[in-house]
Amino acid sequence: MEQLLVPMICKIDKVIQETPDVRTYRLKFREEGRMENFKWMPGQFVEFSLLGSGECTFCIASSSTRKGYFDCSIKRAGIVTADIHNGLEEGDEVGIRGPYGNWFPLDDIKGKNLLFIGGGIGLAPLRSLIQYCIDNRSDYKDFTILYGARTSSDLCYKDEIKEWQDNKSLKVILTIDKPEDTWSSNVGVVPKILEEVVKPGIANTKVITCGPPIMIKYTILSLKKLGFADPDIITTLEMKMQCGLGKCGRCNIGSTYVCKDGPVFTNEDLQRLPDEF
Ligand SMILES: Cc1cc2nc3c(=O)[nH]c(=O)nc-3n(C[C@H](O)[C@H](O)[C@H](O)COP(=O)(O)OP(=O)(O)OC[C@H]3O[C@@H](n4cnc5c(N)ncnc54)[C@H](O)[C@@H]3O)c2cc1C
Ligand code: FES
Repeated sequence: MEQLLVPMICKIDKVIQETPDVRTYRLKFREEGRMENFKWMPGQFVEFSLLGSGECTFCIASSSTRKGYFDCSIKRAGIVTADIHNGLEEGDEVGIRGPYGNWFPLDDIKGKNLLFIGGGIGLAPLRSLIQYCIDNRSDYKDFTILYGARTSSDLCYKDEIKEWQDNKSLKVILTIDKPEDTWSSNVGVVPKILEEVVKPGIANTKVITCGPPIMIKYTILSLKKLGFADPDIITTLEMKMQCGLGKCGRCNIGSTYVCKDGPVFTNEDLQRLPDEF
């Protein structure tokens, strides 16, 4: 148990200011050879520790198909994330435990149309899978990314979104909540735009969604209205966590441990969880 809880030291290779309150930290292990042996799957997470401050849970926001580093995109939320934003710069060191949790069902989505639906920082776990699927593009059919944020400056990964828009094999739909002078794309919350742009009952499609709980709730209602079945709707949950590996009992919903049995669930799985969720 102690061994499992010992963080490995990572060096911050790069810091990218994504939005006013989200920064992406590009990480590499300090110890020679460890990066090559660090294996993760899209949807998994790490426990990220800052000496003298504390530990937080973040998904791995990049795909292992992009070699030599991994990214964590961190939104300023409370005490530890504020310390991370205020105190950490390129060259600094942090502790990392993991990777933990299950991952997106890669076998089930192979050969299917993919519809990614993200809101705000919720694009971070999707980005890992999006990169993985782009790097294995011939394994999938239609590929649509619907991404929304409150304002245009709150959209994460702006440079990478431009690359996605330039990639003719992807369809990218962006939206913001309210009109802005320089914004010429969609305006409206994600579920509203979803109902406008997605044709009902798309066969052979897997939907992967992540965002604020309110967005996920209404997105799932819209998907059901459009005729998508529960096993085809996949999401990733954010519960308060501590150990990350099923030991502390901090994250359970009934007998389900979000850190170990999740964080990735289909909407069919979620129906089986107790009402407290
Ligand atoms: C599997 C998983 C993956 C995550 N991935 C990311 C990620 O990629 N990027 C990112 O920015 N954040 C992510 N989070 C959320 C992140 O762990 C919290 O925002 C962070 O721990 C807050 O720490 P803090 O000390 O700054 O805030 P605190 O001072 O602990 O809390 C500040 C506020 O945030 C709320 N909060 C704290 N933790 C969570 C949580 N887990 N879920 C919802 N609300 C919370 C608190 O209730 C409080 O209102 C993830 C969480 C989980 C469980
Ligand atoms: S975080 Fe400790 S049991 Fe899930």
